[in-house]
Amino acid sequence: MSEMLRAPVEVKYADELDYLASVDTDPKPFSWRLSPRMVRLFVLGSERADGLDRVIPQKWFGDRSFVERSIVTLASDRGLLLIGDPGTGKSWLAELLAAAICRNSTLVVQGTAGTTEDHIKYSWNVSMVIGRGQSRESMIPSPIMTAMEQGVIGRFEELTRSTSDVQDALISILSEKYVSIPELDNDNIVFAKPGFSIIATANSRDRGVNDLSSALKRRFNFVRIPVVTNKRSEAEIVRFRTEELLRRHRIEVEVPPTLLDILLQSFADLRTAAAGATSDDEKLESALSTAEQIGVLEDAILHSQFFGDRALHAETLARSLMGSLARRSPEDLAILNKYLHGVVEPRAKQDGGGWEGFLDGGRQAIAALS
Ligand SMILES: Nc1ncnc2c1ncn2[C@@H]1O[C@H](COP(=O)(O)OP(=O)(O)OP(=O)(O)O)[C@@H](O)[C@H]1O
Ligand SMILES: [Mg+2]
Repeated sequence: MSEMLRAPVEVKYADELDYLASVDTDPKPFSWRLSPRMVRLFVLGSERADGLDRVIPQKWFGDRSFVERSIVTLASDRGLLLIGDPGTGKSWLAELLAAAICRNSTLVVQGTAGTTEDHIKYSWNVSMVIGRGQSRESMIPSPIMTAMEQGVIGRFEELTRSTSDVQDALISILSEKYVSIPELDNDNIVFAKPGFSIIATANSRDRGVNDLSSALKRRFNFVRIPVVTNKRSEAEIVRFRTEELLRRHRIEVEVPPTLLDILLQSFADLRTAAAGATSDDEKLESALSTAEQIGVLEDAILHSQFFGDRALHAETLARSLMGSLARRSPEDLAILNKYLHGVVEPRAKQDGGGWEGFLDGGRQAIAALS
């Protein structure tokens, strides 16, 4: 197969999905390609007790109950709405679930202010309409409509960013499970096959969640994904994703455990500070999510690869961290500066090690940004 910058989950893990299907003896809802247990196993990884002769790595890190509730929802009559802070892995979980359940995670609509009803229903191929008139052949189904026709999962990213017209159209799709095409005289209803469902995601910082109409809310089960605060799982996520990114760049580099620790600790410190802040000005604009940690680490690694001696140093890490988190001047810069003086400096004096380099790099970065 030709190379893709980012292969969809069902392509990337095709081997694993084939294997799981081959050993799956449990009943499957509708046209699901795997049973609910196997879907869970694909997402959360295998354990010895599962008795498989192949290790399935964990791909999404978080409480198992979220994954189970999501799977149950998808077998029910309702859509699934994953809500959480930016970078908490909502889209990633949606993709994994769609890939495991129906081997297609690419039927996606992106919600924006410009999303229209056409994007979730259908539109027309204008030149065909001019030539041959409106017919099913000249109709272009949206990803959601394709999902209905195939009885698979459609995804709706950033639901709350779309307008209320679009949300209303979604209500009718989720309740009636068909779309009518009034432009056509016959063959003018597309019914959803069993197995059709929708996974939507919404960013809790977008504030739009409360503005969803109660009619729409009733048609979704909400699963709230919290920011991972458990350091061990967070370390695993960061390691897992970073390895993947590095493989993509064909870079071989070891992230020294002390540096990974420093990265995790600094985010933990900054989150504590944000939790104690009394106004938005005292709080970093960043949500300090795991995804941002991954971004910081990737940035530091690429920087040392391109412009440094290839080994990862604490100075570089600090510079990447400051660079990514200092979005507002002066507010964010002041918060980061306070952090360096109040927390990092005493720690560097006491523990030395990587924290000294981190302090140096941080100071240089702040000076350059100020
Ligand atoms: N719990 C997690 N398990 C595995 N990977 C995670 C987790 N949280 C975040 N990540 C990784 O962080 C990156 C960003 O995650 P993702 O895009 O899914 O976030 P999101 O919640 O959809 O954010 P947004 O609200 O900004 O769209 C992905 O590469 C994902 O793999
Ligand atoms: Mg997302």
